[in-house]
Amino acid sequence: MAEPMTFARMVRDIVRRHGGLPTRLLQVLRDVQDRLTWLSPDALDQVAEELGLSPDKVRGVAEFYSFLYTNPRGSYDILFSDNITDRMLGNRELLHYLCERLGIEIGETRADGVVSVGVTSCTGMCDQGPAALVNGYTLTRLDRPRLDRIVELLNSRTALEQWPREFFEVTSNIRHADVLLGRHFADGAALRAALRRGPGAMLDELVKSGLRGQGGAGYRSAAKWIACRNAPGEVKYVVCNADEGEPGTFKDRVLMQDFADLVFEGMTLCGRVIGARQGFVYLRGEYRYLLDALRATLQRRREVGLLGEAILGDTSFNFDIDIHLGAGAYVCGEESALIESLEGKHGVPRIRPPFPTTHGYLNRPTVVNNVETFAAAAKIAVEGGDWFASRGTAESKGTKLLSLSGDCERPGIYEYPFGVTVQRVLEDCGARDTQGIQMAGPAGHMISAQQFGRRICFEDLATGGSFMVFNRSRDILDGIRNFTQFFVHESCGFCTPCRVGTSLMRDLVAKVHTGHGTRFDLEEMRKLGRIMQVACHCGLGQTAPNPVLDSLDEFPEAYERRLRSTAYEPAFDLNAALEEARQLTGRRDPGAYLNEQDLLLRAMP
Ligand SMILES: Cc1cc2nc3c(=O)[nH]c(=O)nc-3n(C[C@H](O)[C@H](O)[C@H](O)COP(=O)(O)O)c2cc1C
Ligand code: SF4
Repeated sequence: MAEPMTFARMVRDIVRRHGGLPTRLLQVLRDVQDRLTWLSPDALDQVAEELGLSPDKVRGVAEFYSFLYTNPRGSYDILFSDNITDRMLGNRELLHYLCERLGIEIGETRADGVVSVGVTSCTGMCDQGPAALVNGYTLTRLDRPRLDRIVELLNSRTALEQWPREFFEVTSNIRHADVLLGRHFADGAALRAALRRGPGAMLDELVKSGLRGQGGAGYRSAAKWIACRNAPGEVKYVVCNADEGEPGTFKDRVLMQDFADLVFEGMTLCGRVIGARQGFVYLRGEYRYLLDALRATLQRRREVGLLGEAILGDTSFNFDIDIHLGAGAYVCGEESALIESLEGKHGVPRIRPPFPTTHGYLNRPTVVNNVETFAAAAKIAVEGGDWFASRGTAESKGTKLLSLSGDCERPGIYEYPFGVTVQRVLEDCGARDTQGIQMAGPAGHMISAQQFGRRICFEDLATGGSFMVFNRSRDILDGIRNFTQFFVHESCGFCTPCRVGTSLMRDLVAKVHTGHGTRFDLEEMRKLGRIMQVACHCGLGQTAPNPVLDSLDEFPEAYERRLRSTAYEPAFDLNAALEEARQLTGRRDPGAYLNEQDLLLRAMP
């Protein structure tokens, strides 16, 4: 650790760079950790003092986020991406190989403090895995020769800047473009159009376009913007949700990498329409490699008058954008948790209503939209609402970006008008002998071949944008097990049905997967899933059982063929074990017996 005075000054400088604002707590902690490799108790106390916050609060935030460490880590911290698509590409074998070469176990830091190796959820590189992060920076296309070279670089303590550039290469893999990715866009065109039309007429175009949110729920974007514009209060905010934590989804990564101007322009347009002066991009921590380029793009836009004061010479048009970097918490993609995180807190979803359009960032009216939604809004400003609405289906206008990965020849990004069939997408990406698809990530739905004739749109199969393809050589339960573990890790722990339910579900799936399950366990999974869908506080817990429930219906054979017997065989009879206690206490009332369903129902908030 640095010498005390220097250390205090270093923290003070970082806090000062962030304007001494408690809302910047997460960003401050990230920067302090970058300097020290971990957040020691002293560092946390110092941050608390400089920001005028309680040490408990600062510690609570530090402990919430996966990418913040309150225990020492290596100077080089390597985290293997552990989505099912990374597993399909052999990440586990490579992880063991690396640990063996470094002489450490998974999750350990080497005794010399140089390197630690662990795993993390999907890093959004499913089209170019197996992937990993080193000190937060993305490594793609790992294989043994690449790992051999990495071991040499670690042992010689070579600075990351001197590692081969190709190790960090992230390609966009745009395979099929339509109006969003394929049509030219001139910077400033959307803002000029909005100034020409005026905010009211701009909103009319948005209404005509029928644009719906592309982050999953499909809420009508015009309705959201109108509600925020009409909400009382002078100060309003625009937030771009670039958290993209849904495993298997990487479309927003490509938009931020290749089309950042379009996204920033959509945000600025929104600022103009709702009367906001400040916007935030909440960028997922795994996309840290994009940060410098995005900041440079923002600066260029300021210099050419597309951002900042008096945009395009109009003195009434002031809007700027700041980027907040997440720190590895999937729940922070949920819009109210995201706002909490932006405010410098840990990301627990708020009780809604009220919604962000009236009570968002700092309790002010706020529009939160997905990256793709802002990009589409910018195009609509230029080309008009009718043009956009001429594509797609009755309820789903325009186009959809899909992230394709897994068992297909051409993984990457595909843009189609809404209404495209699953079959067409599978043919285009070179998927053969497909058994099933996990659509929209683990929170979405799993479909089998009988459903490949269905259409991608809100009135049929809705998706936030991901397609993970499983061919017939795959064991569907491997995927399901990976997803249930994901939800256990990502549950924020606020409510019992989710905190306990995700663990119970994971354990039940593991029991069947390892050949110890019975028909009774399958019924338990269905029951538990139904309880979670209604009793969990936010979308994370409500959707967590989806992959299990879907696969029980769509792929019953994946479960059935593993059942040990058709009768329930408990590993442990809890009620019998309680008999001794009942005898000792002389209790025979209902509360002295265990009824799991009652317990779960009682646990509901
Ligand atoms: C657990 C959870 C995670 C979410 N993650 C994201 C995300 O990464 N990106 C996103 O745009 N929306 C995400 N959402 C949806 C957002 O809450 C919100 O609906 C969306 O950002 C609104 O933008 P849209 O109207 O443009 O779709 C998530 C929701 C839940 C419940
Ligand atoms: S459902 Fe899960 S993630 Fe959502 S608030 Fe409850 S515990 Fe947190």
